[in-house]
Amino acid sequence: MDIENLEVESKIQQLEKSVRILQKKLERSEADRINLEKASELKELLLKSVIREFEESQVVLEKRTVELETALKNLKSLQVKLIESEKMSALGVLVAGVAHEINNPVNFIYGNLDHVSNYFQELLNLLTLYRHYYPTPVIAIQKQIKKIELDYIIKDWQNIFDSMNMGVERIQQIVKSLRTFSRLDEAKFKVVDIHPGIDSTLLILNNRIKPSARFHQGIQVIRNYGDLPKLECYPGQLNQVFMNILVNSIDALEDAGHVLIPTIRISTEVLNTNWAVIRIADNGVGISETVQSQLFNPFFTTKDVGKGTGLGLSISYQIITELHKGKLECYSTPGNGAEFVITIPVKQDVK
Ligand SMILES: Nc1ncnc2c1ncn2[C@@H]1O[C@H](COP(=O)(O)OP(=O)(O)OP(=O)(O)O)[C@@H](O)[C@H]1O
Ligand SMILES: [Mg+2]
Repeated sequence: MDIENLEVESKIQQLEKSVRILQKKLERSEADRINLEKASELKELLLKSVIREFEESQVVLEKRTVELETALKNLKSLQVKLIESEKMSALGVLVAGVAHEINNPVNFIYGNLDHVSNYFQELLNLLTLYRHYYPTPVIAIQKQIKKIELDYIIKDWQNIFDSMNMGVERIQQIVKSLRTFSRLDEAKFKVVDIHPGIDSTLLILNNRIKPSARFHQGIQVIRNYGDLPKLECYPGQLNQVFMNILVNSIDALEDAGHVLIPTIRISTEVLNTNWAVIRIADNGVGISETVQSQLFNPFFTTKDVGKGTGLGLSISYQIITELHKGKLECYSTPGNGAEFVITIPVKQDVK
């Protein structure tokens, strides 16, 4: 019996031991579980903060991208302005220089033409006297008179002087136009009549407007100038706009080819007393809707490489809208020519 009791006791003890071991294991695994839970919570937190940081940096990145895009756009527009102003000022300097250099010798000729004419007239008077008092000169003189066709000279010399005068006056007019066109001195607003500006631009383009192999009759230019007051504007820059638009019109007429009477129509008028409107229209190829939507974009051109840079209208747009607070619009039906309408305030403080 004792032995039996002992055996039972020992089994109980063994069982108790196993239970203790199991309990320990259970406790350990519980601790492990808690640790694991903590670790995974930590990981989750970490992951969340990484995601947050990532999202934040993405926002920053997007902001930077927008900033960079704006900077690039500004740079491009600055580049356009620089190229054009460089081109313009180089052209202005050249034109002004040529005008200046021509001006002096031309004035010289113009100033002396009158004297030469008077001297010649006096000599002729003297000759007439000689002929009156010595109607029959010696043979050698008679021969010389025949050789130089004296009677013809006497008849023709006035015509020659007149045409020389006209020629010089024409050169003076061109020089004046070149000066009006370049207007280098005028970096500020001036109050000017813009019609001479348009005329001087047309004169500079005369080479492409006058009769040629392409246009036997030349391009017909119709001017309907209204009663415009003097405008507060940058005259040199405005002339540049007229130049850009007129050159495009001439190009468009050349492209059209078949036009019966190639025509450029320029009209000016005042609108509501405060606005000046200048319309320049041609009956050239016209502009498709797709081209119209990109017309004022820098570097947009449909012309061959080397012929167009695509800057003319974009810079004109800037000059009219930014510098003069005006409007530049284009109306065109493809195949039926194009019209560019410039609207600028008569005075710059008018809104
Ligand atoms: N009067 C017009 N008729 C038809 N197309 C025109 C006319 N004016 C402008 N365009 C079109 O608009 C485009 C852009 O004109 P823009 O003056 O800006 O550049 P461009 O003439 O091509 O080059 P650039 O003036 O720099 O030498 C031209 O290539 C042409 O296709
Ligand atoms: Mg152009």
